[in-house]
Amino acid sequence: MKDKLQELEEMNRSAELGGGEKRIASQHKKGKLTARERLLLFLDEGTFHEVGKLVRHREVQFGLDKEHYLGDGVVTGYGKVAGRLVYVFSQDFTVFGGSLSESHAEKICKIMDMAMKNGAPIIGLNDSGGARIQEGVKSLGGYADIFFKNTMASGVIPQISCIMGPCAGGAVYSPAITDFIMMVEQTSYMFVTGPNVVKTVTQEDVTSEALGGASTHSTKSGVTHFTAANEAIALKNIRQLLSYIPQNCEEDAPIYPYEFQEDESRPQLNTIVPENPNQPYDIREVVEGCVDDKTFFEVHPDYAENIVVGFAKIGGRSIGVVGNQPAVLAGVLDINASKKAARFVRFCDAFNIPLLVFEDVPGFLPGTDQEWNGIISNGAKLLYAFCEATVPRITVITRKAYGGAYDVMNSKHIGADLNYAWPTAEIAVMGAQGAAEIIFKKEIKEAKNPEEKLQEKIEQYTDEFANPYKAAHRGYVDEVITPAQTRERLISAFEMLSNKVDHLPKKKHGNIPL
Ligand code: COA
Repeated sequence: MKDKLQELEEMNRSAELGGGEKRIASQHKKGKLTARERLLLFLDEGTFHEVGKLVRHREVQFGLDKEHYLGDGVVTGYGKVAGRLVYVFSQDFTVFGGSLSESHAEKICKIMDMAMKNGAPIIGLNDSGGARIQEGVKSLGGYADIFFKNTMASGVIPQISCIMGPCAGGAVYSPAITDFIMMVEQTSYMFVTGPNVVKTVTQEDVTSEALGGASTHSTKSGVTHFTAANEAIALKNIRQLLSYIPQNCEEDAPIYPYEFQEDESRPQLNTIVPENPNQPYDIREVVEGCVDDKTFFEVHPDYAENIVVGFAKIGGRSIGVVGNQPAVLAGVLDINASKKAARFVRFCDAFNIPLLVFEDVPGFLPGTDQEWNGIISNGAKLLYAFCEATVPRITVITRKAYGGAYDVMNSKHIGADLNYAWPTAEIAVMGAQGAAEIIFKKEIKEAKNPEEKLQEKIEQYTDEFANPYKAAHRGYVDEVITPAQTRERLISAFEMLSNKVDHLPKKKHGNIPL
């Protein structure tokens, strides 16, 4: 028995050492933690249980029959985050560069199956040189198995990817299907083809960092939702992200105890919207003034900044917030903003997270760039996402709600449950000047003083439409409220809507304009 215990102990020790001391030192030298160190940092202390620790690859070619590492380059298992069950896999760069073999893929698939059956999130910590080159198509098949499972799990359990090293070639498509991507600055990159291939094909000179580093994907492509200065911050932020979301699509997000104050009014909200309707302000101030203190957790903060999305708590309940951002491009909707918000809305709807929309939108961004790149089908994504969402949905119109963008931004007509407007709201087909110039064109042209006439017509149009009352008279706005009252209204409204049941017509699936 003693021998057997010793044998097991040695095997465990060997598995825990991954690719060995030298490679661990080299990993540390790059400013990276090992696969196991990351899991220890990520999970609640003492909760990690490993599954598949002794798995080995089965390859015999290219000398691999003589090179085995227990675990085969990925540590898989389950543990807890803030007391809630999660499943994890963490690729070990010290073993064949974290490359994905058939067995490595099987381990990931096994843990994904467990996460699906038991209804808990799966978090992947990616640090891999891609397909295990020696294994050829077996490795490619392993990736495809993972992609398939990612797709089956989409909308059933939350899936989060943290990129903590290389993630190249086909490997990128697993994170791409997951709900959220976090990238560590300077030490991680993602691309379909690396700088050498780029140089050969397009003659472009580009570094890995510029091609697919964290800042590229957080600002230019929008592939990553979050970046973090180092691995510890990345893992801490994923823990925070999990605090807003439920374990699976059948459950609600956890409700945190909130001690209601006698007075939940927020007078500071009364002075945020400037007198001049063309002056910008930061919608985040409005969001932060309405939600529970310090709970706003922004998603995609550096991409398509003309729209702000993120999670928050209100009265202790999780909500997803979408807000036009007047401080960037006047809060106009463009292709990137539409895609960013649409994906967020769909995540919230899939996971029973109510939606709160702050609206101050002058319309869609005009121009050939937008039209030629498909603002029509991309803008339609956001419209479709809202139309299809069955979670509780509330809109607050703070200022402009113009044109088609008024319809898109969670209007009453496309199924919002409650629509509030501030007295500063302007709900119209377009801004007063543009409207006056079109509908009174002839009258202005023929006037003795066209400039004076234009001003008169602007005022006339403003009196008629640049307010929330026409919409309120028709019931398109349920209540015009003072900004200071907004938080109180939202707390009770979300509570009132907490048992909302709504269904979509029976179908295989819709056909969102992708
Ligand atoms: N398959 C098998 N082994 C791989 C591998 C892969 N895809 N990628 C890396 N490795 C191994 C290396 O042979 C090396 O092994 P060693 O420790 O025994 O020397 C180890 O992983 C570390 O790789 P190394 O190249 O020394 O690390 P690096 O930090 O300098 O570079 C990469 C990392 C990922 C840029 C580089 O390894 C690479 O380009 N890998 C291939 C990527 C690729 O084309 N993958 C297939 C397409 S999906």
